[in-house]
Amino acid sequence: MTWDPTQYLKFAGERLQPAIDLLQRVPLASPGTVVDMGCGAGNLTPLFLARWPEAKITGVDSSPEMLAKARAQYPQASYVEASFAEWRPPEPVDLLYSNAALHWLGEHETLFPSLFSIVKPGGYMAVQMPRNFAAPSHTNILAAAEAGPWAPKLLPLLRRNPVSEPGFYWRLLHGKAAELHIWETEYTQVLSGENPVAEFTKGSALKPLLDALGAEERAAFEADYRARIAKAYPKEANGSTLFPFRRLFILARA
Ligand SMILES: C[S@@+](CC[C@H](N)C(=O)[O-])C[C@H]1O[C@@H](n2cnc3c(N)ncnc32)[C@H](O)[C@@H]1O
Repeated sequence: MTWDPTQYLKFAGERLQPAIDLLQRVPLASPGTVVDMGCGAGNLTPLFLARWPEAKITGVDSSPEMLAKARAQYPQASYVEASFAEWRPPEPVDLLYSNAALHWLGEHETLFPSLFSIVKPGGYMAVQMPRNFAAPSHTNILAAAEAGPWAPKLLPLLRRNPVSEPGFYWRLLHGKAAELHIWETEYTQVLSGENPVAEFTKGSALKPLLDALGAEERAAFEADYRARIAKAYPKEANGSTLFPFRRLFILARA
C-alpha cells in the first residue's frame, strides 16, 4: 500500500488526539531512547521532544512517502525505512510507542510479545490502535466491495478484524508485564466538509482498495462507498458530521 500523507493529515487533529492521550499516560520522567513504530509523517516527534528534549527518537515506518514528510518536517529524529515485523533496535529501549499503526500487520500473537521484548526493564510499551471495524465507516467498505464487478479484486484485500478484543492483548502480555493497563475510548469526532467520514477513511482503511483498481473502477467503487457513508453519517443542523470512533490503548511496563 502507498500512503498519501496529504489525505491522511486532512484529519491530523482527530488522528493525533489519541496519541496525545496515550503519551500523557506514560509515566517516564526522562527516557533516553524512544522508538515510534509506524511513525508515519513523524507527527509525534515534536510531542516526544517537547516532553523529553534529551531523548533519542527513532521513527520506524515502511512507507517512503510518509518518511519523506517526516524527515522534512521533523529532522530532530532519526528515521528508519523498515517493517515493524522485522526491524528491532540494537539495544533495548525505554519507550516503544505506536499510534494507529500495528493494526496494519496481522499475527499480533507473535508481534506484541516480540515488540515488548525490546523494552528495557522499567521501560514501557504504549500502543493505540483503532477498534472501529464494526462501525458503518468500515462495514460499508465491505458492502461496497461486494456490490460491484470489482468484488473479486477487493474481497481478498479486506482484513475484517485486524484488532482483537482487549482480553486477547491482556492474555498475551500480563505474564510478561510488571504492570499492564488496557482501556478503550470512543471519541465523538466532529468533522466538517462534504462527506467527511468518507474523506477520513480514504486516508487510511479505504486506501489499499482504491489503490487496487484502475481509474474507472476506482471512481465507481468510491462513488458507491461515498453514497453509503453519506447516508450512514448525516449532517447535524449546523453542518457538522459526528463520527464516533473507538480506539484501544495498551500500556505495559517491562
Ligand atoms: C495510520 S498511519 C499512523 C502514523 C503515525 N503513527 C501517526 O499517528 O500519525 C500508519 C503508519 O503505519 C505504517 N505501517 C503500516 N504497516 C507497517 C509495517 N508493517 N511496518 C512499518 N510501518 C508500517 C504506515 O506506513 C503508516 O505510516
